Amino acid sequence: MSKFLKENKNLVIRRARTEDAVELNGFYRHIILETDHFGYEVDEFHITDEQQEHTINMYNQADNAILLVATLDDKIVGNLSFRAGSSKKFQHVGEFGVQVLKDYWNLGIGKELVKYLINWARENETIYKISLRVRADNKSAIHLYKTLGFMEEGILKGEMKCNGIMYDLIYMGIVVD
Ligand SMILES: CC(C)(COP(=O)(O)OP(=O)(O)OC[C@H]1O[C@@H](n2cnc3c(N)ncnc32)[C@H](O)[C@@H]1OP(=O)(O)O)[C@@H](O)C(=O)NCCC(=O)NCCS
Repeated sequence: MSKFLKENKNLVIRRARTEDAVELNGFYRHIILETDHFGYEVDEFHITDEQQEHTINMYNQADNAILLVATLDDKIVGNLSFRAGSSKKFQHVGEFGVQVLKDYWNLGIGKELVKYLINWARENETIYKISLRVRADNKSAIHLYKTLGFMEEGILKGEMKCNGIMYDLIYMGIVVD
């Protein structure tokens, strides 16, 4: 755990609740402006607060999915979503996405979110593997994932197009069984 987190006991990692929907939507809109490593562009995020509430409910009712928030002094500063497949052949493996507000980067919050996911997956009887795709130039994210034991499994050439530029994604995974 980073020195910052040791000294700031008010960081909480927990499942999102329906009452987080409005703040979570605001968080996503903020993140989109701060980074182009998020899956949506500014004009594409149209999720209403009601839809977000519905999404949170869906995650909380599923056995093989989890939606987390990281709060610091009760403010959402980070988020992680993981969902495994729905068919029998793929319900043991899923991908996640993680985001932290830029003002709070490099303080260990992203690592705490991914550690929570790994621990949850280890306890979960269905989940065998956690995967992710990360842009090949996202150095801090790749460093974070490797630190926690994720292995590179392949390169997805030109998988992401951002401002007219094609980017390779690295496919990474960790077996948690
Ligand atoms: C990726 C992201 C979630 C990381 O969150 P975070 O809270 O900053 O993560 P942490 O502080 O736990 O870890 C970051 C690590 O990267 C390291 N790092 C920072 N810049 C780096 C660089 N240029 N090269 C290598 N490592 C770097 C930090 O030192 C830290 O490692 P350490 O704990 O060994 O010191 C956050 O930067 C983010 O939200 N980015 C935008 C969205 C995104 O890219 N999401 C991931 C998509 S796959």
